[in-house]
Amino acid sequence: MKLQELANRFSVPGVRFETAHGGMIRIAIETAVSTGELYLHGAHVSRFQPAGCESVLWMSEFSCFEFDKPIRGGVPICFPWFGPHPSDAKLPGHGWARLKEWDLVGCGILDDGGVSLDLRTKSTDFELSFRVEFSKSLRMVLSVALTAGAIASRRFEEALHTYLRVGDIRQVSISGLESVAYLDKVGVLAKRDASGEPIQFSQETDRVYNETIDNCVLNDPQLGRTITIRKAGSLSTVIWNPWIEKSARMPDFGDNEWTGMVCIETANVGNNFVEISPGQVHTMKTEIEVTL
Ligand code: BG6
Repeated sequence: MKLQELANRFSVPGVRFETAHGGMIRIAIETAVSTGELYLHGAHVSRFQPAGCESVLWMSEFSCFEFDKPIRGGVPICFPWFGPHPSDAKLPGHGWARLKEWDLVGCGILDDGGVSLDLRTKSTDFELSFRVEFSKSLRMVLSVALTAGAIASRRFEEALHTYLRVGDIRQVSISGLESVAYLDKVGVLAKRDASGEPIQFSQETDRVYNETIDNCVLNDPQLGRTITIRKAGSLSTVIWNPWIEKSARMPDFGDNEWTGMVCIETANVGNNFVEISPGQVHTMKTEIEVTL
């Protein structure tokens, strides 16, 4: 759908359709409760800022805005696999959902004055719906079903790969995962016991916590805020910061940007893959809320 068609069809106060980086269509939200942005490319939330707060999501200054590449920062949707494809290295990392042009199918005003967006996309096997609520908090719901006519069940992995902006990664801590064992993806894959302590960062960190339904709280003394990440329909949480050397290896990630971000990803990955049958819908939700 072209820009003008979108504007005609979804004429909602506080919602603007614009052409942004790389000629991509972006939806800009500006209401009394929050401001935000979403690219149709990947149904990618790239900005969220509740009224009276600083920006919550991190975006790389070096992100590509090309239709065959993911956007770096914000909230990429990883689906239907996480990381490299298990058997075909030529397929895109973290699946195809973040590379697709999604369709906007709904746009409305929430009771508190925020805005909701409903998007859809599909492949031969899966139909995806994504609802984003730019409210006082940011709420995202990813729903997955099999395409009409499917006769067999299918498995998938998924993640809302949320990049959060922090004052200084070396000063933040994350609580909520103290009692959960994890898979350490830095270097050789290794299973590690629960640490018993909030997570702090002093090196590259790439961890998959499975079998956890718990919320996380990011404590950021430098920005003077905490961010609570609530979730439902998710058994995994992924924590990532690339630190110095990996940042330097990534072309769409500034060499010094690692200090200002951390990913806390609401997910179902690895042993927590999801299997759905024809007719079933699987829903994963997350809510990101700032407290000053
Ligand atoms: C994280 C993974 O979720 O995403 C990391 O655990 C990965 O291993 C990171 O490096 C970024 O992935 P990508 O494909 O966006 O560069």
